[in-house]
Amino acid sequence: MYNTLERVRRACFVKYNAALALSTLLSLTAFNLANAEGTAEIQIFCDQPTVDLSPHLYGLFFEDINYAADGGLYAELVQNRSFEYYSLTKNRRGQGLHPLYAWNMIQRRGGQVETRVTDAEPLNPNNRNYAELQITKSGEVGVGNKGYDGIHLDQNARYNVSLYARAKSWSGDSSLTIRLEAEDGSDCGSVCLQGLDGDWKKLEGVITANKSTDEASLLVITEGEGTLHLDMVSLFPQDTYNGHKNGLRKDLVQALKDLNPKFLRFPGGCIVHGHGLDNIYRWKDSVGDVAQRKPNWNLWGYHQTYGLGYFEYFQLCEDLKMEPLPVVPIGVGCGFRCKEFVPIDELGPHIQDAIDLIEFANGPVTSTWGKVRADMGHPEPFDLKYICLGNEEHDTPDMRQRFPLFSQAVREAYPDIKIIGTSGLSPSIPIYDLMARDKVYSSDEHYYMSPAWFLANQDRFDDFDRDKPLIFVGEYAAHDTDRKNTLYSALSEAAFLNGIERNADIVDMTCYAPLFGHKNHSQWNPDLIYFDKRNVIRTTNYYVQQMYGQNKGDVYLRNSVEMKASDAPSTVSGHIGIGTWNTTIEVDKVSVNGRQLAPSKWRVSSGDYSMKEGQYVQSDGRATPAMSISREAFDAETVTIEIRARKTSGAEGFLIRFGADEKGEGGYWWNVAGWNNSRHGIENFSGGSETVQSVNGSIDANRWYDTKVELTPGRIRCYLDGQLIQDYTIEQASLSLSSTFDRESRDVILKLVNPTSEPIQAQINLAGTSSVASEASLISLSGAKDATNTFEHPNKVVPEKSTISAGDEFIHTVPAFAVEIIRVKVKR
Ligand code: AHR
Repeated sequence: MYNTLERVRRACFVKYNAALALSTLLSLTAFNLANAEGTAEIQIFCDQPTVDLSPHLYGLFFEDINYAADGGLYAELVQNRSFEYYSLTKNRRGQGLHPLYAWNMIQRRGGQVETRVTDAEPLNPNNRNYAELQITKSGEVGVGNKGYDGIHLDQNARYNVSLYARAKSWSGDSSLTIRLEAEDGSDCGSVCLQGLDGDWKKLEGVITANKSTDEASLLVITEGEGTLHLDMVSLFPQDTYNGHKNGLRKDLVQALKDLNPKFLRFPGGCIVHGHGLDNIYRWKDSVGDVAQRKPNWNLWGYHQTYGLGYFEYFQLCEDLKMEPLPVVPIGVGCGFRCKEFVPIDELGPHIQDAIDLIEFANGPVTSTWGKVRADMGHPEPFDLKYICLGNEEHDTPDMRQRFPLFSQAVREAYPDIKIIGTSGLSPSIPIYDLMARDKVYSSDEHYYMSPAWFLANQDRFDDFDRDKPLIFVGEYAAHDTDRKNTLYSALSEAAFLNGIERNADIVDMTCYAPLFGHKNHSQWNPDLIYFDKRNVIRTTNYYVQQMYGQNKGDVYLRNSVEMKASDAPSTVSGHIGIGTWNTTIEVDKVSVNGRQLAPSKWRVSSGDYSMKEGQYVQSDGRATPAMSISREAFDAETVTIEIRARKTSGAEGFLIRFGADEKGEGGYWWNVAGWNNSRHGIENFSGGSETVQSVNGSIDANRWYDTKVELTPGRIRCYLDGQLIQDYTIEQASLSLSSTFDRESRDVILKLVNPTSEPIQAQINLAGTSSVASEASLISLSGAKDATNTFEHPNKVVPEKSTISAGDEFIHTVPAFAVEIIRVKVKR
């Protein structure tokens, strides 16, 4: 069967060696593949291992962005527990914050109280603010906390309550009641804490919730009278991951564990640099008793308690068997936000911080920082092997001067610790040269690019100099136009990872970024995992990470892919249209291949179109978009659309639609003077939307323009007043492949990515091995190109497991828009 098929198809195969280059991909339209079910011939040379895959290729990057720590992974349920919030002047998002944020006053049964926050006699120098309640009339008075948009409670679950309190000029009852109250005022459980007196005292208790709710508040109530001081009011589920006190949310850690991650890069990102020198992340502020930790504001627009601090990060690494990769700042503020540097003669304490961190992780209990770790409950070392110096450093002389001072000091103090440097932001890795000179162990590069970029850059590492430092892809994510977690973005990342596995001799570690996004408090999308108080949403990108993390393999096997050339590319065909975005226009003439059309007869799908004084006018300046679509479809070898139009008001230009289906969907538009009149762009709508090419450019209001879009096989050319503005070749799509071998299971592991809208039938031949199992396991992630898992539809795209027939020669069809993993056992 295989040989017959092979003979028939060989004539029209194009040689395509995946082991060398898989990159010629691939922004693909529904049109050029419409008639072209792909076919591929895959050869795996099982006896030709190429490179070993790093045991820690797939890991995690955690940053406190999007409420990932407080209100997220850190299981504390009280928000602003020590009244340290304040309005953030450097981030608009945080301007509404204040010391009583998330708190409200309780005055019931005739009681009267005035509440303020003061720092007159603080709990300790690091934790200065506390609430002062002046109770002038007893009753039932106190303060309530809504947590993070309401507190989630599970019936019968037990919660630890603690707070620091102090009473002055007190009369009456010297106990405090901590009550959990549902939104309707009903009681969810309470505890009475005794022992209030004139000095700061920690009071503790346990509440068992008598019902489940998502909307509870925590109330601190007294029936006494006088002045009451409160600080560090805390409510913690006992059921944290591994039951740790001051621990982490179980469901979120479980989601991490399921990825099979091998390292954790933490605690950021931009927050490590800080927005200004007093905002630098100093790890020493984040260890010890939580009441003694020194909080700081978060440049993403909120506050950090540091309750999830360095000890907890190391503990998480230990729990999930991940290598810890702490990122320490190198005295350089966040290059995107400030241009501040710690002066060279003041750098000493910052360098010492890096050295002391290693002692905190690995030092004996007799050492200063080893003792701090031991006092926190972990006398054994955490076995730290790596340290990341700097985050995404911008290339400046000050940075170049500071980096070697840190690396040299770390090497001198701890020669065995591996230094991970930074290559700077963007794929052009501006400071990799500095890292190469410094001879760091590996260098961290970051990119947030379009799916098309990821598909087209599978060969990125093929030509990297193997004498230079290893590569750590420490932050990456495919960002489509809407910055959603579409299946297409996920599969483009998978294809990129295939290129990385092939180059695993130079790429040592990779991790997606950011990791977490809170449903209601995200500054940055897309993220790998979304959550709210109760739910955890695993995105399509998550599943790719999981599939790759659980099926890595130990060694890469040489392979080849021969793709059948798809049928000759066709011309983009379909309905045409004219539209706008926040703009009004007048259209004078429309023609296709020289034939005048009457747009007034077209279907209006949005906006306000009418004929005025012989012109076709769109007068709704707020429509995004306004769109009028021809009833007729155009299909010819060459389709030339000519439209004379002028913009009369608004921020942008006009949209020329082509290749749409009868519903007005799919195909493309040419966005003339989009992005607030700054760029022209060709945007593709085959499943989601993507700008496939754009150039700088603008237009003038009230000036007539002759626009022309010329569609020829596999090509789109756009003209403005006779001048060629954009020339876009629709590239052919291809199958992406990685093949590895797992020594323990003796599985050959194939990772296949089909980024096209058509299934690809693959003939798979496992050569150079003696006995191949007749069955293989298959994990398949496929669906619509723009499919996304959401809170409403969390399981739209999930990996499905099945068994398929295998053997040394077998045929398997990879569905459209799919990532698949096939594991087949071999004897040798
Ligand atoms: O991942 C979000 C941010 O992106 C990180 O903080 C930073 O390193 C990068 O710019």
